[in-house]
Amino acid sequence: MKALILVGGFGTRLRPLTLSFPKPLVDFANKPMILHQIEALKAIGVTEVVLAINYQPEVMLNFLKDFEAKLGIKITCSQETEPLGTAGPLALARDKLIDDSGEPFFVLNSDVISEYPLKEMIKFHKAHGGEASIMVTKVDEPSKYGVVVMEEASGQVEKFVEKPKLFVGNKINAGIYLLNPSVLDRIELRPTSIEKEVFPKIASEKKLYAMVLPGFWMDIGQPRDYISGLRLYLDSLKKKSSSKLASGTHIVGNVIVDDTAEIGEGCLIGPDVAIGPGCIVEAGVRLSRCTVMRGARIKKHACISSSIIGWHSTVGQWARVENMTILGEDVHVCDEVYSNGGVVLPHKEIKSSILKPEIVM
Ligand code: GDD
Ligand code: MG
Repeated sequence: MKALILVGGFGTRLRPLTLSFPKPLVDFANKPMILHQIEALKAIGVTEVVLAINYQPEVMLNFLKDFEAKLGIKITCSQETEPLGTAGPLALARDKLIDDSGEPFFVLNSDVISEYPLKEMIKFHKAHGGEASIMVTKVDEPSKYGVVVMEEASGQVEKFVEKPKLFVGNKINAGIYLLNPSVLDRIELRPTSIEKEVFPKIASEKKLYAMVLPGFWMDIGQPRDYISGLRLYLDSLKKKSSSKLASGTHIVGNVIVDDTAEIGEGCLIGPDVAIGPGCIVEAGVRLSRCTVMRGARIKKHACISSSIIGWHSTVGQWARVENMTILGEDVHVCDEVYSNGGVVLPHKEIKSSILKPEIVM
């Protein structure tokens, strides 16, 4: 079985992190986002993953070489010379996706996180006999997603409306599809949107079916959602494999700490924290609802909440970093500085406090 992951887009909503790496390589819960998906695909027997890329292909390709061998799955690239949207890349990769088996293939948005119930999805797809299956999930604010109106019992999709201005319903496209090869006959090789041009057409022919996704789901392509996504991910990890969570008197709630990270004396960490490889958290630090990425250093008595600390950044002694502060790669926050929602571009040194949410260039 094969799969295609949509890896394009500029990831502007996740800047400054995406100034250093393409969005799929931004770490989430201590590993690049896309690895969560490739691992889930591998686990259900997918043998080849095609990455549809239009941005920084060299970075992705270098990264791929390593993981292809580590994970034992074939990873190939389909590179666009111009962004082809969310459907055009499928036409471009047509030859890679079709083989003699006639089997359906998976298509995934690269920025969604869930328990990837892909086995259940295959079962659902086989049972309804339509042309395409999509996963849907309920959200409170449907307007920023593709909204799906479906017949509850059969799952048959009546309407698919991308980013509706008026309320249509609260079940939204989760960005996980299983498509018969015949769907490729509907897509031309040009910039085109699967959500606006392909799904509405298949739905009008009553061949599009939606399955309500069991478990959690989040599009982690924006900082606030990234932080909420980590909470949901850790909650689910606790239920499924709680031994992966950190424990000890210094831990509150769900926390993951990479084996190579060092934690000093008298820290209090959690809930909902991820501390990546090679991080150094010095004595007396307080961390909650935050991600500290690979190689970062948090100095003594610093306090961080609801924030993302980018790769190899440092946060000084007695500094306070909070309220959706996002530090890009290699940012240095000096001792005693306060950041209230600062969004700081890579390689900056912050010497004075950021008193209200703003971008620091
Ligand atoms: N190869 C390629 N080329 N990939 C692209 C391109 C492109 O030109 N444009 C976007 N992508 C990829 C993105 O990297 C992402 O993985 C996926 O396509 C969806 O694009 P986003 O920019 O993240 O779209 P969105 O979040 O606004 O909306 C989509 O996702 C929602 C769920 O998170 C839609 O599919 C919605 O219907 C859906 O509800
Ligand atoms: Mg998205």
